[in-house]
Amino acid sequence: MTKRVAILISGGGSNMVTLVDSMTGDHPARPVLVLSNIEGAGGLARATERGIPTATVPHKDYGGDRAAFEAELNRVLEEVAPDIICLAGFMRVLTEEFTRKWQGRMLNIHPSLLPKYRGLHTHRRALEAGDREHGCTVHEVTAELDGGPILGQATVPVYDGDTEETLAKRVLGMEHQLYPEVLRRYAAADRTPVVLSISS
Ligand code: GAR
Repeated sequence: MTKRVAILISGGGSNMVTLVDSMTGDHPARPVLVLSNIEGAGGLARATERGIPTATVPHKDYGGDRAAFEAELNRVLEEVAPDIICLAGFMRVLTEEFTRKWQGRMLNIHPSLLPKYRGLHTHRRALEAGDREHGCTVHEVTAELDGGPILGQATVPVYDGDTEETLAKRVLGMEHQLYPEVLRRYAAADRTPVVLSISS
């Protein structure tokens, strides 16, 4: 049966676009909702252009009450009964209760080669460490921040003279390949890790 996919975003949604655009033809899944925690997030218009229903649950309206924010997220998500939730640049830390509810059905993309550089500023931290390789990871979401089982990684070289911006752009290009490949497998119940790289 075709899997129903909800995608959560906070920004421009370039990963969301690649996921949505991949779910055609014999793909085992279809997008049913794009949800943002930021009113007017650029990705919402891009989803609408593609005919995907959108919703906004602004975390700011909840004044730091995470439980109330997540209760509303759950309500909106349950209305579309997703089989899979893809976090795609969704910049809120989720509680253990929320992650447990959706565990085994929720994926995230993170711009580092996990377990390196959980959290923020991953490109800056890779540059500061003098890493010669960097990349991105798609993993299942658990209560541990950026810590769930890894479903795929893509590696890129770090060049002399790279800045956060040049490195971020190179990694993002690989995110756009990695996430759709992992989602396609995951929707077909295949957890074999996807491994991609750009050679230097
Ligand atoms: C992506 O680089 C994604 O890996 C990152 O935010 C960007 C969103 O871009 N996610 C995180 O840092 C999550 N901790 P997009 O809105 O263009 O897809």
